[in-house]
Amino acid sequence: MLAYMTAKDAAEKWNISRRRVNTLCQENRIPNAAMLGNMWIIPIEAVKPVDGRTNRYDKKNPAKPFIKWAGGKGQLLPTIRKMYPQKMGTEIRKYCEPMVGAGAVLFDVLNTYEMDEVIICDTNAELINTFTVVKDNLSKLIQLLSEYEKTHLKLECDSRKEFYYNQRDLFNSQIQKPTKQNSILRAALFIYLNKTCFNGLYRVNRKGLFNVPMGSYKRPTICDTENLKKTSELLRNVTILNGDYQCIKDYADEKSFIYFDPPYRPLNKTSEFTSYTTDDFNDEDQIRLATFIKSLTKAKVMASNSDPHNVDENDNFFDDIYKGLNINRVSAIRAINSKGKGRGKISELLITNY
Ligand SMILES: C[S@@+](CC[C@H](N)C(=O)[O-])C[C@H]1O[C@@H](n2cnc3c(N)ncnc32)[C@H](O)[C@@H]1O
Repeated sequence: MLAYMTAKDAAEKWNISRRRVNTLCQENRIPNAAMLGNMWIIPIEAVKPVDGRTNRYDKKNPAKPFIKWAGGKGQLLPTIRKMYPQKMGTEIRKYCEPMVGAGAVLFDVLNTYEMDEVIICDTNAELINTFTVVKDNLSKLIQLLSEYEKTHLKLECDSRKEFYYNQRDLFNSQIQKPTKQNSILRAALFIYLNKTCFNGLYRVNRKGLFNVPMGSYKRPTICDTENLKKTSELLRNVTILNGDYQCIKDYADEKSFIYFDPPYRPLNKTSEFTSYTTDDFNDEDQIRLATFIKSLTKAKVMASNSDPHNVDENDNFFDDIYKGLNINRVSAIRAINSKGKGRGKISELLITNY
């Protein structure tokens, strides 16, 4: 059972005013704070929230992913947020996201909680290089991106197209020989292509070369300096790893919350989107992931995926492989096929071990 203190006690303990404590409670910044009659009571072990009035936690304009990403969780975020483990920011002091993509949930957690340790990972080497450069070399990155933005926006029709395809060729030549020296250039090209290509897709051919055509955006924002600064600041103490999700094994303990967002199992052939990297994520990979997740018994774990019941109510693939965990069916709005047509409400899975 939780033990509580009053707002007055919390104010003394944290060296802030009682009014400020009440505001923090009203803003839901203190997990498990509750109203008793007309006063707030606060769990004794609650940690003083970081001052939400500083830049780091800009509530009106929180940091958001600096790229678009297939399967990005922006839309589902309000639902996911409601299902965070109860003691986020108090007993849960470590966040791991080992299949991070653009990191919609990562940035929400970083915007909201002060964690002792945050670890992210992805198999996509260029994506991870970009996260690292945003964290460590922001000003040079911004310099390149604003040049690209200026050029892209002043060109029209065929000359703009020519610029896009030249940049794509340059990216492909650089990623064939990735080094520390060309890491900033690769990251700038990665963001430029992401903001200007068709639907922000990252798709590569068998040789690992990026092959998405130009999109048809009139005036895309290529260099969002303000958001890049916020994300860079939030990434300051984040450990960024490139590789398979299993690399987070050593970080999983009682203090961790781990969110897995793998490539979704296709609902049907036309919704198939693979090739985030050259490797596909098939049913065997889903089973390997479920086995790994089930082995993480100390940490609080959440995983998302598509719900096969949308197309076949007898397809219990995930119910079977995640047997023993909580399988929540939640409603989401999704582009149902790869061409972005057929948006609609469908059910998705949020699986938790808590
Ligand atoms: C659905 S996306 C994640 C989207 C993310 N939640 C967001 O908000 O943008 C899945 C990610 O898993 C990564 N991935 C695929 N196989 C992986 C593996 N074995 N280990 C780690 N990451 C992997 C892909 O590169 C991709 O970025």
